[in-house]
Amino acid sequence: MITMVKDMQENKKKIVGIKAAEYIKDGMIVGLGTGSTAKYLVERVGELVKDGLKIQAVATSKATEEQARELGIPLLDVNEVEYLDIAIDGVDEIDKDFNATKGGGGALFREKIVASLSKEVIWIMDDSKLVDAIGDFPLPVEILPYGYKVTLKRLKDLGLNPVMRLKNNELYVTDNGNYIADLHMSAPVDVKDIKEKLDNTVGVLETGQFLNMCNRIIVGTDDGVKIFENK
Ligand code: A5P
Repeated sequence: MITMVKDMQENKKKIVGIKAAEYIKDGMIVGLGTGSTAKYLVERVGELVKDGLKIQAVATSKATEEQARELGIPLLDVNEVEYLDIAIDGVDEIDKDFNATKGGGGALFREKIVASLSKEVIWIMDDSKLVDAIGDFPLPVEILPYGYKVTLKRLKDLGLNPVMRLKNNELYVTDNGNYIADLHMSAPVDVKDIKEKLDNTVGVLETGQFLNMCNRIIVGTDDGVKIFENK
């Protein structure tokens, strides 16, 4: 039973990855997202490139870069581009106003840079990511290792319940060489208030708050793919 539910979840991720790839056209510079949903997108883009699609891509993490390279997708360094035509990525939680939490996989900083450079942003997900109000998924915040204990204390004092992210019992290190504090709150949260607090906290480099930064979302449901435009 559990395996069946997992398979259904995987299938929802796969169909949105395949659908999103339809938006990629010849000549585009494409931002490739990170995570278990974006992985299917990258896989599909790899197939299309093999079949002759002519694109160049910027990866949002070392993991995606590796996957793209293995699949023969031509890659550009982010510093080589002035803009991207399209960026496609996953999310951890998203509400009706297209406010999202991202960074569960730790790639939030690069994901935000890529999204901010892109003319069009598409987020792909299974329907478990759609929520009435964001806040239950711990909000990842990338912080500078230098003085991180002070930053952690500041976040605590602001009532944001930070927990340092660990990997194999060591502090988790991002692709940028920084740490992540996950803020444990519960929905509904006041996203603007949190943003202001984080913007004003020295030591916080970037956050997983992606507020109304996408043009459309593609959602995998039991009834197939659903597309919602952000007008
Ligand atoms: C990576 O840091 C994240 O922002 C992912 O895009 C997000 O966590 C969604 O990942 P999944 O598709 O694996 O749920």
